[in-house]
Parts: sequence; C-alpha cells; structure tokens
Amino acid sequence: MAEENEMVVTPWEVSGEIDYDRLIEKFGTEPITDPLLERIKKFTGELHLQLRRRIFFSHRDLDLILDMYEAGRKFVLYTGRGPSGPVHIGHIVPWIFTKYLQDKFDAKLYFQMTDDEKFLIHPEFTLRKAVDWTYDNALDVAAIGFDPKKTFIISDVNNIKILYSLAVKIARHITVSTVKAVFGFEDSSNIGIVFFPALQAAPCFIESMATGEKVPCLIPAAIDQDPYWRIARDVAPKLEYYKPAQIHCKFIPGLGKGGKMSASMPETCIFMTDPPEVAERKIWNAFTGGKPTAREQRIEGGDPTICTIFQYFSLLFEEDDKALSELSSKCRSGEILCGDCKEKLSERVKRFLTEHQRRREKARNIIDQYFIDDRVPSRI
Ligand code: TRP
Repeated sequence: MAEENEMVVTPWEVSGEIDYDRLIEKFGTEPITDPLLERIKKFTGELHLQLRRRIFFSHRDLDLILDMYEAGRKFVLYTGRGPSGPVHIGHIVPWIFTKYLQDKFDAKLYFQMTDDEKFLIHPEFTLRKAVDWTYDNALDVAAIGFDPKKTFIISDVNNIKILYSLAVKIARHITVSTVKAVFGFEDSSNIGIVFFPALQAAPCFIESMATGEKVPCLIPAAIDQDPYWRIARDVAPKLEYYKPAQIHCKFIPGLGKGGKMSASMPETCIFMTDPPEVAERKIWNAFTGGKPTAREQRIEGGDPTICTIFQYFSLLFEEDDKALSELSSKCRSGEILCGDCKEKLSERVKRFLTEHQRRREKARNIIDQYFIDDRVPSRI
C-alpha cells in the first residue's frame, strides 16, 4: 500500500500529491519549454490556453512532429477513453485541446473507446454495459465538434477488425515480463488484460497500415497513459513505423480538496449530462481558497492557488489572461469573496453545459458517421 500522499501515477490509479516536474523525470519525458511553444505558435497563429497555462506540460518527440510537418509531412492524432460511466468536465478538457490540434493542423483523429479494457478490469461490469457506455460517450466526443469526416471513433469490441491484425503484430514483440514490469500485472491477472496493451498501441499505426506509408502519430492524453506509449514506442521500429509522439496533460481536479475529478465522487464532479442547476449546486459546495468568514477574507484575502473555482476559470472558463490575473489579485486582496466567484463560474458552467447538451442531442442523428466502420481499409 502506498503511504498517504505518496505520488502514485499508473493508468489505473492516480493518487497523492502530484509533482509534475518529478513525473517528467520519472517517466523520462520532455518539458514543454518556451522555445517549443514559440515554434508551435508559428503553425497555429495563437496558443491555446491549455498550452499558455501549461495544462499540457510534457511531451515526447513533439519537436520531431513539427519538423516533419514543416517539411510537408502530415501527422494523425490519436486519443481515447475508457468508457465506464458518464463523461465529465475532466475528460473533455484534453478533448477540447485535441480539437484545436485537429483544426490547426488539419489532422485526422483516431479515437479509441476501450470498452474491452473496462470490461476486463471491472469484475462487476458486463460487456453489454461497457459497449453501451461507448455509444453514450461517443455523443460527448461528437459534441466537442470534431470534424466527422476526419474523425474515426473505434469501439474495441465492435470494430476489432480494424485493430486486430496490428494488435497481433505488436503483441508478438511484447513479453509477459515486460507488461508485468510496466503495468504490475501478476500471475493472477486475467489474460485479456495482459494482451490489452497491444490493443491500445494499435491505433498509433492505423494510418500507416491503411496507407502503406509511414505516417507520424501524435497522442494528446493525460500523463497516466504514458506506460502504454513506452511499449508502443519500443515496438514501433520493429514494425517499421514511427514511434508515436505524445503531448501530456495534467490531471484535471475535482471540486473537492485535492485529487483529480473522478466519477466515483459525483458531488465533486461535473458530468456533461448534469442538469445545469445540479452543476450549480456542486459549484456552491466546492472547496475554495477562502477564509471561514467574510470579514476575515476582506482583511486577509483568499488563496487562489488552492481554490478549485479559480482552477476552473484557469482550465476552461476564463479565456482572457488579463481577466484571470485580475481575478487572482482581487481574491488575494480580499476585494472579492468566494460567493462572487462561485456565482460567476456557475453562470459560465451552466451556459456551457446547456450548449454541450444541445450539441450532444443533435449528435444522435450523425453519430454513425463518426464510427470507423469500414471507412478505413484494414490491410493485413
Ligand atoms: N486506457 C484509456 C483509459 O482508460 C483509454 C485510451 C485508449 C486512451 N487509447 C487512448 C486514452 C489514447 C488516451 C489516449 O482512459
């Protein structure tokens, strides 16, 4: 058992105090530096707030992706979701960034729904339930506004045909002792989950397989998924593909004190399907950097660095850097109180959810267009 507050980051568990600089060291990734941001800006014209505010903070080979792009070589994007319940704001933050990349680089996106993985790791889950969540969650993906012509959602269970030939080629190069060391599997682990890392690696190479050319792939994802990419990167050269590049984001906090947003703590989690007034209630109960009384706060000021409300402005709901820093200094000086911020955030979140839910309903009519089906040839 990990000690309390000890940092644990695996694809299945994130807990303790997260030190992102240490994670970069531990995982052996590269920090996103100012010169790299300047380079990105040359292609995108503007920097997304998730880059400006270092929500995406680490990478592997992003510089190589840009070198190739500069030389006229396009890349594909790949991200995914383990569909085990309703989508919440923590999930969609990196998806919003992925859409920005799709738009700016005119890139295809492969989006994997690992319904098999969720079935294999949750003993209480039926396969039916996992697949149902795939189709439910796909509506949230579509509602982000990805281009349906360039976006390919893959249900592992229902679209296995496109993945399987790649997965077996990958699997032949991965030993049991490697996955034991990387993921902590044990002799008692079921053999489905032992094979699964080959399936999560497969979408990195779909475009190359389908076109018969080497196509670079960039994966925007939270850093806990990194172990999968280490394996995919080891195998890539053996199959004569490029190693998949990554851009990693931080964990998106919940509305409680510490910890990432998690569906298992529904009161501190804003689901995309929450009725706006439910989200409002959750925001009113959120953990802030405020003082116990208004009087104290007027005198001593609050602490935005620990405030979940402030973090939500920073992550998504205040685009304007100047307005954000004003909010921070007004909080510190005691000029504004938590109630003011909660009210302002509630208004923005309610508007955002209403709009998302409208798009989500509309997506029902076109969701089939997003699934990969047989739009991409599977060459063995
Ligand atoms: N394993 C991931 C999860 O449980 C889902 C996933 C599959 C994914 N492929 C991905 C996430 C690529 C990010 C990028 O959430």
